[in-house]
Amino acid sequence: MLEKKYRLALIGCGSMGAAHLDDICEMENVTIECVCDLKEERARNFAAKYHAVRVETDWKRTVCSDDVDIVIICTYPSTHLEILRECIKQGKHVLCEKPIAQTLKEGEEIVRLVKENPHIKVLVGYILRHNKTYMRVADMIQNGAIGKPIVMRMAQNHHTMDWEKYLHLICETSPILDCGVHYIDVMRWFTKSEVTEVSGIGLRTEKDVPDGKFNYGLMTAKLSDGSIAYYEAGWGNTMSADNLKEFVGPKGRIRITYQMSRRENQEEGDLIEYYTYPEGHYETINVLCKRKPTGDQLATLIEMIENNAPANPLIDDVYESFKWAVKADEIIKEKL
Ligand SMILES: NC(=O)c1ccc[n+]([C@@H]2O[C@H](COP(=O)([O-])OP(=O)(O)OC[C@H]3O[C@@H](n4cnc5c(N)ncnc54)[C@H](O)[C@@H]3O)[C@@H](O)[C@H]2O)c1
Repeated sequence: MLEKKYRLALIGCGSMGAAHLDDICEMENVTIECVCDLKEERARNFAAKYHAVRVETDWKRTVCSDDVDIVIICTYPSTHLEILRECIKQGKHVLCEKPIAQTLKEGEEIVRLVKENPHIKVLVGYILRHNKTYMRVADMIQNGAIGKPIVMRMAQNHHTMDWEKYLHLICETSPILDCGVHYIDVMRWFTKSEVTEVSGIGLRTEKDVPDGKFNYGLMTAKLSDGSIAYYEAGWGNTMSADNLKEFVGPKGRIRITYQMSRRENQEEGDLIEYYTYPEGHYETINVLCKRKPTGDQLATLIEMIENNAPANPLIDDVYESFKWAVKADEIIKEKL
């Protein structure tokens, strides 16, 4: 049987748009039909690099065209609901970047639209769910490798090289909301438990961050199995790029070192460092893994279309981490 070819449109030709097309352009069952950006030059550059058939500057025209089967929404969160609503109306399947929206109300509307239109497949880009290193660690923790309850220590700070872009993002969503959705999802996924409480503090280390917004935040969470977690996220000109992902339990600990942060043998992949107690045994696991496995993520959407496979994560899980990230964000903003 001939494999079906999906005609894809990307809306938003920025850094995450590139991460999608870098992987997807190698997929045999996908053609890149259209690339769309408000900034025409960006769309033209993408078209040249990824051999797109067509360039657009109007997302609505992109979504309404007959030659598109799947739309990847890679614009800012304030635009996600409007674009996704039109995609569903036009019968296009969707891969939408996180966070799903800017506000809880918009997030709830997205969940409603997804549930009321099961024939249109919508996957939200929680890329860590498709990342082999995170999948391996989830498996280890769920199989009791470090015992329970656990402490989850997570940080991801960016030394911003393109401050204008980050300032734009900060005006839309804080670092805690933008990236926190991934790590709150990790907390729930790894422990198979619910978040029951969040708190946080934050501030502005950059004078041009507007009143009521922040560029550095630290959130904490409690989970229903007794686990606790923190997530630290900052974007700034004076911040150092930093990445910590460590999971500690009564029987041991697991730490993830990304390939790019390895001191040696970077070409081998990510490192999982596993320590067991009381044995005092150290094990290092090498995982060949793409940092952003966007091709695997799109393959999941195609499985949803062809075989009615479930989304990964489910839309309720997407909303749950979004809801707690919004809550932490509000708590931080109240104290600014
Ligand atoms: N999953 C991840 O790991 C990950 C990582 C980074 C960003 N993201 C998400 O991806 C989205 C985009 O972030 P980014 O870092 O790529 O931003 P970016 O600024 O690099 O790119 C966004 C692009 O969208 C374009 N755009 C904005 N509004 C548009 C509209 N209405 N129509 C057409 N084009 C429009 C902009 O001109 C820009 O080129 C955000 O939701 C962000 O949170 C996800």
